[in-house]
Amino acid sequence: MKISVVKTTTPKAKPDQSNLGFGQFFTDHMFIMDYTEGKGWHDPRIVPYGPLEMDPSCAVLHYGQAVFEGMKAYRSPEGKVLLFRPEQNMARLNRSNARMSIPQFDEEFALKAIKELVMVDQDWIPTAPGTALYLRPFVIGCDNVLGVRASYKYKFIVILSPVGAYYKEGLNPVSIWVEPHYVRAVRGGTGYAKAAGNYAGSLLAQKNAQAQGYSQVLWLDGLERKYVEEVGAMNVFFNIDGELITPDLGDSVLPGITRKSVLQLLQSWNIPTVERRLSVEEIFQAHADGRLREAFGCGTAAVISPIGKLGWADKSIEIGGGKIGEISQRLYDTITGIQTGKLDDPFGWVVEVEG
Ligand code: PLP
Ligand code: COI
Repeated sequence: MKISVVKTTTPKAKPDQSNLGFGQFFTDHMFIMDYTEGKGWHDPRIVPYGPLEMDPSCAVLHYGQAVFEGMKAYRSPEGKVLLFRPEQNMARLNRSNARMSIPQFDEEFALKAIKELVMVDQDWIPTAPGTALYLRPFVIGCDNVLGVRASYKYKFIVILSPVGAYYKEGLNPVSIWVEPHYVRAVRGGTGYAKAAGNYAGSLLAQKNAQAQGYSQVLWLDGLERKYVEEVGAMNVFFNIDGELITPDLGDSVLPGITRKSVLQLLQSWNIPTVERRLSVEEIFQAHADGRLREAFGCGTAAVISPIGKLGWADKSIEIGGGKIGEISQRLYDTITGIQTGKLDDPFGWVVEVEG
């Protein structure tokens, strides 16, 4: 399939790189491709960024048949445009599609389209430390019908946003609230998919946590509400006595690409890692015993985000004395170094976009 390109005639002014926030600015172009049952994916196109026209009965607006991805493009010191493990995002998007009854797409073709879009808007890739161009591919069900069933029509869209740190804290530790009542996902549910509805269902708990001064929620398992799963937009690691523990992936946790990369890096440094069930009780006990050395979340948007305070019921603990932990800092430096082409890439994670 050939990707058609229509360039904007009214390019926007670029935002100030020191004040990007997260996902507030959008570039000049976007990618769209349609799906029609019986015809497959068709009409791939890069067009000026702008509103979508939709019928009010459009399926996604009612039953939330929507999935998305989050990736970043970086500018290396030599001026190259780099992506980090993008094939992993494409594979995960197809797994999310499968769970939400959305048809599969050709991953190689979608990645090619994403690369082309990034090259069209490459002047939007910010270069200030801690910034990147965030890529948001998403797929939505587009039938105009109120019957509850999988759509026959879809749109695959990619938009781009120059971003800074996800949390206003930047690399400073964030406060996380252990959610005792609401759950994010259950066994057999949609937790492992990057489905829009997972995020809609999380907003109330997040709002409640924020009202108490916390940034995000740490979700517990949906059955016993005892075991740690993940944070709103990040997977989590706890350093107990020098062993880096992260919850194992069932079908209720999002299999993060940063999580996978962190595990690979730690293993390459001969730092012990384990993926297993970890109760919040065990974390608080480890803290009481002086064995909880550091905790951090990790994700594309958040990169490595140290957890400085954990609140649970009527207790709260401070981790790492308000500072980023040694391993968290090393991971942050290494991952961002590899992503931005400033450090060697021994794992072959980085893909150069040539245009
Ligand atoms: N968990 C959730 C719920 C997320 O939204 C994200 C962000 O994508 C992650 C974990 C981290 O995944 P990744 O490292 O692939 O960005
Ligand atoms: C990401 O890290 O890419 C995410 O999708 C997290 C969040 C912005 C939903």
